Amino acid sequence: MSLSQPLPKPSETTIRLGSKAPNFTAQTSNGPVTFYDYQGDSWVVLFSHPDDFTPVCTTELGAFAKLEPEFSKRNTKLIGLSANTVEKHEAWIKDINEVTGAHLTFPIIADPKREIALKFDMIDYQDATNVDDKGVQLTIRSVFVIDPTHTVRLIITYPASVGRNTAEVLRVLDSLQLSEKHNKTLTTPVNWVPGDDVIVVPTLPEEKARKLYPNFRSVKPYLRLSPLPNN
Ligand code: BEZ
Repeated sequence: MSLSQPLPKPSETTIRLGSKAPNFTAQTSNGPVTFYDYQGDSWVVLFSHPDDFTPVCTTELGAFAKLEPEFSKRNTKLIGLSANTVEKHEAWIKDINEVTGAHLTFPIIADPKREIALKFDMIDYQDATNVDDKGVQLTIRSVFVIDPTHTVRLIITYPASVGRNTAEVLRVLDSLQLSEKHNKTLTTPVNWVPGDDVIVVPTLPEEKARKLYPNFRSVKPYLRLSPLPNN
């Protein structure tokens, strides 16, 4: 395809950064949930699993549950999804708590028919051998960060063998919220963590940049670093 041709439009089931997260109502381990009602005015981290009682996923759910207070501090709700029934989820949560020492209280969506996984474009079809005994693609292992306007702001999809990094999810959330707080005039550099210098976006005119971020320094005209002002 030549670059002068318009890019094809993503199909309705394709979820990309900037897409509106679809609403849905589903059974969860905490009773029926309508996603937008659950979200309210919060950010949401939605993360998914292909099956209950799977080893990597067990450790991940325990880790997210232990970090829930950190997410709450950031006005962020957690919600898991697994392609299994509520009854199975309830039994699995007992195991997760026992194995990891967590006290998991956020809902885990029951998606035995993979309908919500499909809506969110979570299902791995890249590996044709990765199918269950009915020929259904197995791996559903995505993390979505969704902002209070239901806009998808982060998508990471993991293979079955690699446990997720909960600290990275928190770090991305901190970066996104920092950028929002500063009207998108700031971004964050490689491996940034809170406390590190931030980037003043190149589109902010010099005079305004100096006013907002008086201590910024120009490494290049397009790369201006600044400590975060105390406000
Ligand atoms: C797991 O170990 O959690 C896992 C196993 C197979 C597929 C997906 C996840």
